[in-house]
Amino acid sequence: MYYPNDLSNHAIRKDPNELHVWVMTDTHFKTEVDGKPKEQNAVFKDKYFYKAHSHMRHFVDLVNEINAYQPELVLHLGDIVDRYHSDFNQFNDLWNAIDPNIRKERICGNHEFGENRKDKDLYRLFPEVQTRKEIAGSKFNQSFVVDNGAVRLKVIMAETAYDKNGERATGGPGYFKTEAFDWIDFELNENRDTDLVLLATHHGPCLHFTDEQKLKLKQVIDSSCSSDPHLVIYDISGHNHPTSVQYQDDFFPNMPSYHLPAGVGFVGKYTVLTFNTRKEMDVAERILHYPYDW
Ligand SMILES: [Fe+2]
Repeated sequence: MYYPNDLSNHAIRKDPNELHVWVMTDTHFKTEVDGKPKEQNAVFKDKYFYKAHSHMRHFVDLVNEINAYQPELVLHLGDIVDRYHSDFNQFNDLWNAIDPNIRKERICGNHEFGENRKDKDLYRLFPEVQTRKEIAGSKFNQSFVVDNGAVRLKVIMAETAYDKNGERATGGPGYFKTEAFDWIDFELNENRDTDLVLLATHHGPCLHFTDEQKLKLKQVIDSSCSSDPHLVIYDISGHNHPTSVQYQDDFFPNMPSYHLPAGVGFVGKYTVLTFNTRKEMDVAERILHYPYDW
């Protein structure tokens, strides 16, 4: 099959002065129909469940390619599975196949709550959060720094799979818990030793937050940027499955926002972020074929 914007056969040469973050989102694993396009529930709307595993397998292979790629960080922005606990096993097999030298981090989407799971049950599915303390009401909220000697990037991963009362929700719009705003403000103003920040969420604030929460976040972002004119903040999110990377800066002029395409799409799309020493972020899609020959 031919895809006009196919980048998957073009090597991205790794420049040691750049920092690379490879992002997947909305894989919606559904093991029962994996590799079975004719099954009844193999496709639903824009979700091509039967291809998702193959696409991600291809992506993990690309991530692992020595010399050519090996990004400093791999992220998953949630909706890892479509609904069931059992599908986590299939996902984890691939997720854990990422070279252990490469840092990988993930957050929850609304679909992880498909069976009305409680936090306790959910944390059990994510071994990496077991020893973490809750921050702003969630063990999935975290911040960390990735530094390759040339570029130092602070990443804030913030959970949004709540309703307006702060309860777990299985759809949209997404919300931060009330306490998350103070936490993000703290991360941007008191707990920061670099001018370059990436905010990663499942629901994108531009598209999926209510006006009230958008405004609250805008106040945090704008005041942080006005107190430090050197600060550069980018925002990435999943959830809305755009067919290509969607860019918005109309509501958050101080935080360019990118909605990233879904791994479960007809054409599996993943995103490569490249940060340079000028604090610019380049965004490239990686388009993956199906079936992938492995
Ligand atoms: Fe979602």
